[in-house]
Amino acid sequence: MNHTTFETPVVSRARTVERLVAGQPTSDGAGVKLTRVLTNTLQRRLDPFLMLDAFGSDNPGDYIAGFPDHPHRGFETITYMIAGRMRHRDSAGHEGLLSNGGVQWMTAGRGVIHSELPEQEEGRMEGFQLWLNLPAKDKMRDPWYRDIPSGEIPEFTRDGVQVRVIAGASHGVPGAVQRDQTEPLYLDLHLEPGARFEQTLDPALNAFVYVYRGGLSIGDTAVPVQRMALLANGGDTQGIVLQAGEQPTRALLIAGRPLNEPIAQYGPFVMNTRDQLMQAVEDFQNGKLA
Ligand code: CO
Repeated sequence: MNHTTFETPVVSRARTVERLVAGQPTSDGAGVKLTRVLTNTLQRRLDPFLMLDAFGSDNPGDYIAGFPDHPHRGFETITYMIAGRMRHRDSAGHEGLLSNGGVQWMTAGRGVIHSELPEQEEGRMEGFQLWLNLPAKDKMRDPWYRDIPSGEIPEFTRDGVQVRVIAGASHGVPGAVQRDQTEPLYLDLHLEPGARFEQTLDPALNAFVYVYRGGLSIGDTAVPVQRMALLANGGDTQGIVLQAGEQPTRALLIAGRPLNEPIAQYGPFVMNTRDQLMQAVEDFQNGKLA
């Protein structure tokens, strides 16, 4: 895409880092080894985000079993593949192949059953899965799904930073997906050594940065690789300023507007009340999610 005009961001009062978080090694699906970066203890603080998993391995034993059929209800899953190929199939008849640099955005709504299975027996598999909550009024909406190949993700390069705009907008470039109430911003940033990136952001939005190559600084805080920096919601801040270190650096910058609604989770179901969770389990057992 060729964008000739950019709004000039002015971030003279930038957010600071509230805390750094190291992910927890875990396994999910049929034994896929991954790092849970955003765990459920952070769901309230990082509302509307419920989970972020990072997976990355050259060893097929860590990923080959994939995620066989499993249900979801009440939120959205956004899978971003950096390397490797994953086949997605769901009970609504959708099927897609997610590969290098592509995104799969799935709105579970009232429910889907799907599988996410590697389509390779060797080589590197690397990517992320983010869970984004749905507003109470949308939790039982129809499921929706979109496969976004790498070439359809809007990007631009500026001052040594390549910006891939998965959701929201950056420097006047709208991303591949927009959502009204949660207003997700999802950027994948590739920074040359020493490069600086600014992003304006409403101080009410919850935001975090996850570094997956190299390292960067936010204000006085160094954020090393494989760490999440949770950003303070300063009342009079204008946005975020990232400064890459001496290595080529890659990071996800994710932000969203909090829903401020009750969060009730039981595994792959995220609703507002315990009764709604029990209903979800019952509907799944009775085959009503398929
Ligand atoms: Co799933």
